[in-house]
Amino acid sequence: MLKIVEVGPRDGLQDETAVVPPVAKIAFVDTLSLSGVSEIEVSAFVSRRWVPQLADAEEVFRKISRKNGVVYSALVPNERGLDRAIAARVNKVSVFTAVSETFNRKNINTSTAGSIRRFRPVVRGAHGEGLTVRGYVSTAFWCAFEGEIPSEAVIRLVEKLFDIGVDEVSVSDTIGKASREEVGRLLDRLLARIPSDRIAMHFHDTYGRGVENVLMSWSYGIRIFDASVGGLGGCPYAPGATGNVATESVVKALESKGEEVGVDLEKLSQARRLLDAFLVDDRRTLPEDGSPACAACEFSKGDVCCRPRNVHE
Ligand code: HMG
Ligand code: MG
Repeated sequence: MLKIVEVGPRDGLQDETAVVPPVAKIAFVDTLSLSGVSEIEVSAFVSRRWVPQLADAEEVFRKISRKNGVVYSALVPNERGLDRAIAARVNKVSVFTAVSETFNRKNINTSTAGSIRRFRPVVRGAHGEGLTVRGYVSTAFWCAFEGEIPSEAVIRLVEKLFDIGVDEVSVSDTIGKASREEVGRLLDRLLARIPSDRIAMHFHDTYGRGVENVLMSWSYGIRIFDASVGGLGGCPYAPGATGNVATESVVKALESKGEEVGVDLEKLSQARRLLDAFLVDDRRTLPEDGSPACAACEFSKGDVCCRPRNVHE
């Protein structure tokens, strides 16, 4: 069955310059709850020093109106995050790591192996409370610091997460640079080892390839897609990453394939408009000229970076 995981309240708002007040976040989540999405990633129980934008996770979880059938999830980086998530009555927690050691150091201040050690007690504890656990594998195609990421390393990390007990893995194109051929090559190998119903795909849309990558994954039998209403999002520790693929575009693309997605576009648009007053346009930084992410980009002309972003559109 098709599942749209709306990550706007977490992935979207974690990278906003402006801190959106809790009351607006609560209205945002409540409107999303009425849209028909299967799951909403509401916030993250991370350090407020690292992501001040989501320091109000407890308040948001306490005040949202939960709709039957919708799963309300949150990121947790460690056992402290899990304790907070349990107290906030989340339905599902997500641990998050990356294939790129550099990205992991910058994002969660540990190595990839260190993250797995941290996650073991988190997964055990979450299951003990009856919670489902997702594992994110970031930089599954490209990394802003390390460039192209080998598929074997991605597959090893996905398998490692299943070994420690996660229920689902979200394979993430953190900087939104994968081509559909790269997505196909990874899925060819990954799905030979892991059933497609345990894999979600998480595309950022930096180069405008999010929708085609969703459709490519769909053609491989993937049915769980992360997306962010209005294309909000980005990771504060992944320079150059812009928002997630827009939920609206994913819904329309999947419907064009005959899927009954069951998500109300008008409700999504209503939810997105609630944030208008708080979001600052054109605030994102792009990778530094000549960085590995730029060097391998087909839009790069020698040492001239691809900015502005709309050159590709
Ligand atoms: P650290 O500095 O190594 O950890 O951070 P620490 O144990 O030394 O703690 C530092 C401070 O954080 C201490 O507070 C702790 O108490 C506190 P202080 O003494 O300085 O006041 N702390 C916490 N506070 C609240 N909740 C907690 C918690 N843990 C420690 N759970 C840590 C390590 C993992 C905590 C930090 O690096 C962190 O919070 N990182 C989160 C970064 C983040 O959220 N990034 C964005 C999400 S990932 C993403 O966007 C990618 C994704 O979308 C997929 C994709 O697109 O690729 C998922
Ligand atoms: Mg993301």
